[in-house]
Amino acid sequence: MIKLTVNGRAHEADVEGEMPLLWVLRDVLDIKGPKFGCGIAQCGACTVLLDGAPVRSCSVPVAAIAGKKVTTVEGLEVNGHLHPVQQAWLDHEVPQCGYCQGGQMLTAVALLRHNPKPSDADIDAAMTNICRCGTYARIRTAVHAAAASSQSKRA
Ligand code: FES
Ligand code: FES
Repeated sequence: MIKLTVNGRAHEADVEGEMPLLWVLRDVLDIKGPKFGCGIAQCGACTVLLDGAPVRSCSVPVAAIAGKKVTTVEGLEVNGHLHPVQQAWLDHEVPQCGYCQGGQMLTAVALLRHNPKPSDADIDAAMTNICRCGTYARIRTAVHAAAASSQSKRA
């Protein structure tokens, strides 16, 4: 039995420790925000935050996350309030098909946590998730917008 905390809720999963975290989230806990894309840590569709840092959950055995907090895109909204990154994604109509966007937003959240005012180059370096719909320009715009909105709230 593996214990894990996802989006602030404690769970137990009766799975083998080597099962990828993505499988546990989607198929055991029914948390469908993280998506399967490549399965080899390349595309980022399966991105979740592990103690605030983005990881590719298709390539993390669930046993490796004991004691750590997992955040999926479902955990960004708090008490009905969208995270500034989610709001910026909406305001700037970032998604096309949407498949990659949960992972994109989580990567952006992690970037803004350690770099509240990223440059274009910082964004391009951090946002390594692949988008087959080519929304990269709007992602960059939305990250700047989320940074500005977070800063205005702090001011
Ligand atoms: S499915 Fe995990 S990185 Fe592509
Ligand atoms: S919005 Fe379609 S893959 Fe990114």
